[in-house]
Order: sequence, then structure tokens, then C-alpha cells
Amino acid sequence: MERTFVMIKPDAIQRNLVGEVISRFEKKGLKLIAMKMIQLDDNILNEHYKHHVGKPFFPELVKFMKSGPVIASVWEGKDATTVVRKLVGSTNGRNAESGSIRGDYSMSVSKNIIHASDSPETAEEEISRFFRSEEIIDWKRELDSYIYNKEEI
Ligand code: RTP
Ligand code: MG
Repeated sequence: MERTFVMIKPDAIQRNLVGEVISRFEKKGLKLIAMKMIQLDDNILNEHYKHHVGKPFFPELVKFMKSGPVIASVWEGKDATTVVRKLVGSTNGRNAESGSIRGDYSMSVSKNIIHASDSPETAEEEISRFFRSEEIIDWKRELDSYIYNKEEI
């Protein structure tokens, strides 16, 4: 089953939105297989946002992402990356669709609550950047037969 990486950003933690965000993924039917709170530093941010190095917003992005802890997580599900990106909404909270996480909770292009992997390949790269393999738990969810049909599992 596909896995994807999600990070709750410092603004969501400051605004007490952690439970709300996690709840949306749980209710959708995604399966939580790893989670931890961490304080990011320049090293990991330069790696995580390497495709944005040199862009005008990069210094501000790094400063924001270091301003407090984040919550890193891994979610499993069929087409998990696409499903999660849809739940998250587009980058700028002011344009993001109502009903999406950013659409409902963000007014900003940068203070936008959450990071989600943009492809299954990026997801695997990001998961191994933030988690050791023993931190990812392969547990059996009893409800799976109510969430997927036989062909989907
Ligand atoms: P993310 O990587 O965080 O899931 O968000 P995304 O794919 O929707 O957006 P991306 O283009 O990858 O940008 C990464 C993060 O950089 C900040 N940003 N600030 N000030 C700006 O113009 C600007 N543009 C992007 C946002 O925090 C964005 O999520
Ligand atoms: Mg991105």
C-alpha cells in the first residue's frame, strides 16, 4: 500500500490545530503508521526544501519552519499521496478550496498549516529523511474491510 509523508507546521501547533488536522486524515480512512514531534534545524531544512533554495521566499520559509516544533507523520492508503494533497488543498490558503485543510484554516501562502509530499517518489525520500525504519509501525487495522473493497486492498 502507498505511503506518504505529512508534516504539521509550527503555525498549526501554535494555533492548536493539531487534533483537527490529524482527525481529517483519520476520518478519511488513511492509516497512521508513524508520528513524532521534532525541532527542525538548518541542515534538515536545506535538504527538505532543496528545490526551493535560492527562491525569494526561502530564507523566510526556513525561519518559519524553525520557529517552533513540527509534527512529522507517515500515512498509508491506496493512492495516499494524491488523496492527502487533495485534503490539504493548494499552497495559498486564500485560494485553497473550502473544505480542504488550507482552505478552512489558512489565510496565507506560507503559514499554510501543513506539508504533504508531492509524489509517491518524493514521499519515500521524505519518509526516510525523517524516520528510521523501526519507527514505522506495520499494524493491522481491523476496519480495513469497511474502508476498501477486496480489489482495493
Ligand atoms: P508543501 O511543500 O509545504 O506541502 O507545500 P506546497 O507543495 O503546496 O508548496 P511548495 O511550492 O512546495 O512550497 C513549499 C512551502 O514554501 C512556502 N512558500 N512560501 N512566500 C511565498 O511565496 C511562498 N511560496 C511557498 C509555503 O509554506 C509552502 O508550503
Ligand atoms: Mg511542496
